[in-house]
Amino acid sequence: MRTIVAGNWKMHKDKAEALALLSELVKANAGQPAGVEVVVSPPYPFLDLAVNAVKGSGIQVAAQNCHAAASGAFTGEVSVLMLKSLGVTHCIVGHSERRQYFGETDAQVAEKLRTLLFHGLAPIYCCGERREEREAGRHFHVVEAQLNEALAGLTADELERCIVAYEPVWAIGTGLNATAQQAQDMHAFIRGLLADRGAASVPVLYGGSCKPDNAAELFACPDVNGGLIGGASLDASQFSALIRIARERKA
Ligand code: PGA
Repeated sequence: MRTIVAGNWKMHKDKAEALALLSELVKANAGQPAGVEVVVSPPYPFLDLAVNAVKGSGIQVAAQNCHAAASGAFTGEVSVLMLKSLGVTHCIVGHSERRQYFGETDAQVAEKLRTLLFHGLAPIYCCGERREEREAGRHFHVVEAQLNEALAGLTADELERCIVAYEPVWAIGTGLNATAQQAQDMHAFIRGLLADRGAASVPVLYGGSCKPDNAAELFACPDVNGGLIGGASLDASQFSALIRIARERKA
């Protein structure tokens, strides 16, 4: 089973800071045994320099969003073909912040996911319930509905090129992470849904206040295949510690 540690920088860092963080990560990753796939996801303006900065290091670069169309009159948007032309290999889709602040629907997310697959980029598909949905005991139902909409009609081969990130919305940026048991229960549930579609080996990452002090427990869960990291990915030593923990846990 693959293990992936992906850093979502969100709307943080200027150019000099981005370069500094990338160079620290490249240094920290040098000579490390393969086994854990490392992905960084800087904002759009830094994707080109990121692809160049990580060349030969084994680190891969993801975008945080994309448009579903190949090109067109969509002021302010970025297409998958543009990302591909830069050497970007992954793209986050369906992050809860995009759903919450930009009104992205499951249907739009599904369309982006298909465009990414069509052009050979790996979607990092985010799902997860809000706090009130968990409190109402609806979290499995919510995640199942999200996955059903996003993954409908994909072949097992297409699914195998996806990465799923379970990110309970109440845990994102709050310092309140899911417990290992909550994560494992949901990840096992997601694994079952993927297995029903013939794609049991799709990596399922945990995201939501994952930090070096709670990652060992989370990454040790049998159905947790690494993490999608926000805040702790902005600091080279914290992000490197998370990669190290993933490596040790999955060795
Ligand atoms: P966080 O963010 O690690 O800061 O909670 C995770 C994410 O939004 O991907």
